[in-house]
Amino acid sequence: MDLSAEALRGYIDYLRDMGVYDMYRQGAPADSPELHAWLQSLAPASRPTVSAAPGAAQRSSAVAAPRPSSSPSLAQRPAPVRPASPRPGAGPEIVIAPMAASTPQRTIPPAATAPAAPAAFDDFIPETGPFAPPSMPLVSFNQLAPLPASRTVPQDKAAALQAVRDIIGDCTRCPLAYAGRHTIVFADGDPNAQLMFVGEGPGADEDESGVPFVGKAGQLLNNMIHAMGLKREEVYIANIVKCRPPKNRVPEPAEANTCSPFLLQQIDIVQPKIVVALGATAATYLLGVKQPLTALRGQWHDVRGAKCAVTYHPAFLLRDPRQKGEAWKDLQRVMVELGLKPPARA
Ligand code: URA
Repeated sequence: MDLSAEALRGYIDYLRDMGVYDMYRQGAPADSPELHAWLQSLAPASRPTVSAAPGAAQRSSAVAAPRPSSSPSLAQRPAPVRPASPRPGAGPEIVIAPMAASTPQRTIPPAATAPAAPAAFDDFIPETGPFAPPSMPLVSFNQLAPLPASRTVPQDKAAALQAVRDIIGDCTRCPLAYAGRHTIVFADGDPNAQLMFVGEGPGADEDESGVPFVGKAGQLLNNMIHAMGLKREEVYIANIVKCRPPKNRVPEPAEANTCSPFLLQQIDIVQPKIVVALGATAATYLLGVKQPLTALRGQWHDVRGAKCAVTYHPAFLLRDPRQKGEAWKDLQRVMVELGLKPPARA
């Protein structure tokens, strides 16, 4: 199917008009053989095998929102091109959470008759009233999928991460793809890092360069990492969403939820000892709770088997430098846990 960007954008508008916001969690049961086969068909031949998470059906019934009648059914999804059975000599198995097809087979409204695309999606979505988006349950990364039965060994982590990046492709799974994004910002750093930082989403500099945290907030994050006695190349850095939200607004729940399975995979592959949630958006989606940062700081949370600390986002610290001391307290707790010492001053 060869769709122009304009037709696709009309399609996304159309789906949103129909109330289909969450293209990932309203999918079909994850243990369906058809879905297994379809997920298998997504894995490039030379990449590690991809399969639906075992026991995910249980999970999806626990978190499932009512499925809208407009949601594409499995029968309408592209036919698998390869059988689901593992290939001999295939690489490590990657367990990926269920996800709806990025190009579901539906009648696409002709671009000419599709509703005019708004300049920015956030101007378009009413917050209250009959056309407000359905509220979505907040689900932690731990509830999203069980931990993988087998862990990726260090020498396979880079290839496994690349396989996730390949599956993301030139993603059009959520409206951020049509909201001025230039580059998908996957991650940066060491696939074997013990420490992982999770931010909110790319800004203009990151959208331009394809690397997370390279703007002013990124420079402050670099300083924070150095103050911990580490180099940036020794940690792993990613975001809740991989595409820049227009005007740097907070990602919509549908956008964050659509992107979550990929970040979840990255965490499961890297298996950091510690995850630091930078700011409220990272904390909200990683932990599945909407609480003030002050209530979440100062304690250890669990994210995919890693200890998770919550601290202020560097962009917030740039706006309110008085809080830098508080953020440093959070990072010192992380340093104790990792046995790190601040570098000696010259
Ligand atoms: N802010 C974020 O949350 N992430 C980035 O990558 C850059 C700025």
